[in-house]
Amino acid sequence: MCGIVGYVGSKQALEVVVDGLRRLEYRGYDSAGVAVLDGTGPGAALQVERKAGKLANLEKVLVERELRGTLGIGHTRWATHGPPTDANAHPHLDCAGAVAVVHNGTIENYEELVAGLEARGHERRSDTDTEVVSHLLEERYATGPTAGDLAASLRSVCRDLQGSFVLVVAHRDEPDLVVAARRNLPLVIGLGDGENFVGSDVTAFIAHTREARAVEQDQVVEVRRDGVVVTDLDGLVVEGSSYHVDWDTDAAEKGGYDFFMLKEIDEQPGAVRDTLGGRLTPEGLLHLDELSMSDEDVRGIEQVFIVACGSAYHSGLVGKYAIERWCRLPVQVEMASEFRYRDPVLGRTTLVIAVSQSGETADTLEAVRHARAQKAWVLAVTNTVGSTISRESDAALYTRGGPEVAVASTKAVMTQITAMYLVGLYLAQLRGTRDPDEVRAHLRDLQEIPELIAELLTRMDAVRELAHELKDEQRVLFLGRHVGYPLALEGALKLKELAYVSAEGFPAGEIKHGPIALVEQGTPVVVIAPRHALQAKLLNNVQEVRARGARTIVLATDGDESAAAYAEHVVRLPDTKSLLTPLLTLVPLQVLSAEIARARGLDVDQPRNLAKSVTVE
Ligand code: F6R
Repeated sequence: MCGIVGYVGSKQALEVVVDGLRRLEYRGYDSAGVAVLDGTGPGAALQVERKAGKLANLEKVLVERELRGTLGIGHTRWATHGPPTDANAHPHLDCAGAVAVVHNGTIENYEELVAGLEARGHERRSDTDTEVVSHLLEERYATGPTAGDLAASLRSVCRDLQGSFVLVVAHRDEPDLVVAARRNLPLVIGLGDGENFVGSDVTAFIAHTREARAVEQDQVVEVRRDGVVVTDLDGLVVEGSSYHVDWDTDAAEKGGYDFFMLKEIDEQPGAVRDTLGGRLTPEGLLHLDELSMSDEDVRGIEQVFIVACGSAYHSGLVGKYAIERWCRLPVQVEMASEFRYRDPVLGRTTLVIAVSQSGETADTLEAVRHARAQKAWVLAVTNTVGSTISRESDAALYTRGGPEVAVASTKAVMTQITAMYLVGLYLAQLRGTRDPDEVRAHLRDLQEIPELIAELLTRMDAVRELAHELKDEQRVLFLGRHVGYPLALEGALKLKELAYVSAEGFPAGEIKHGPIALVEQGTPVVVIAPRHALQAKLLNNVQEVRARGARTIVLATDGDESAAAYAEHVVRLPDTKSLLTPLLTLVPLQVLSAEIARARGLDVDQPRNLAKSVTVE
């Protein structure tokens, strides 16, 4: 949550920083702000502009007021402390206007720090927790052992802070220096030629450099035009290695689409192909070296937990069906926010799979830490190379979905589900619970999926029309059985978050235990009913809601007339094995919610109150 960027180089910093913020806006859009230093020498003024609302509001102001200079920092906010107003927008300054600070995270002991600062005569101008950092830096830079040393001042301040933070700081007397610090939240350095960057993720600077280095826990970075120095909080230099980001700017652009989400939906065939790519042996079996568990340890696994939040949790639910079926292992899927507080029984023979697109979700990260403390083996399934969750887990399986900018997750979920199948088949292969021919056959089916998704995407006009018909509905129900159930949850979540429609997903067999009371004349009920062994039972449930006036929209396999008989609308799906159907049913559910949101005139990429990377508990 909150996007942060810092730049020092020879280009106009404002352009670089605002461009970075544009790419980071998915992390929060309650306000945006920048500080630019002209870089001509000590004593230059810090020029600051900040505005409540989306980045576009700030950009309007910046048309009138061009901030010139080659050093800059910027922020796009997801509000935690204090409402989204201009005064609470970052950067936050000290009393003298000499130091500017942008912050992602929460400073848990800020009230105590504020009390001390006020007693020492500082004047607080916002409701944020962040502002304390500016005033503390003002003091440490002015006097004492860290006087005149911005990095040392920041290290000293960090030692006094509790909570999670990424801080990026500029000082008017330091025309060649941006300093940044990290605890618990992501910070990446971009290494350029005569210019360097910091950002919440690589999209912040991908237009300028693809060489990146991750900043580790409790480290401080000094970013200058000619180089970068990383230290720990004691000031000891920490060596580290950089990595090359292998996707380019196009991947982080809209490419002619009205919304990133629509582009990301269309990218799914390629995304699934990338998830599968290079993971098959010439014999048609799997090698997932990433799991980095010995064969003996894999055979010793006695139980699996999958922990995740939101849509990633739904991917985990699909994973449960696959792993239980293929591996005969008990699998529990838990919302990460509940998992660690429940004190689950874990141990050396427990595999915990943490599913997270961003690899930064606070609840999932804490679940990972809890699981590791209990000696479980933790595998991260994530889209983000070098993310905190991937680094803190025993092993990481990257989903390779490419950058996902829209707040609502689409191709990331698709690739997470694909990765769940890969994990299930790999465990089955190593544990010998499925014979190699069967594993090969499932992998062949999986390899056909990208083509099937591509074909399905060509049929979406009918779903767009349906979205127009449903655009004024206030309540929509989603029903599914077996692997259709997590998809019912996912369909409902997407509709809620994008179109602000009250939507709920249920296992179809459960509705007569209460939820059917919601059905009245004309209530739209979306039924996820690809060909499946439980089809007949599902169709009974469809009849039950229809008899009570529901308007049924049925997702059915090509050629399956049994489901169509009970539907007001049929959305056709290509045929595949029933366990793999989530990879297809996902597509019309995504399109339906995006198009209903669009028809309601909403911002499909940036739904209200949300942020993509949820780094607070
Ligand atoms: C919904 C959505 C969220 C995320 C959830 C977990 O469309 O995107 O529900 O799935 O916040 O995020 P990650 O996967 O980054 O841990």
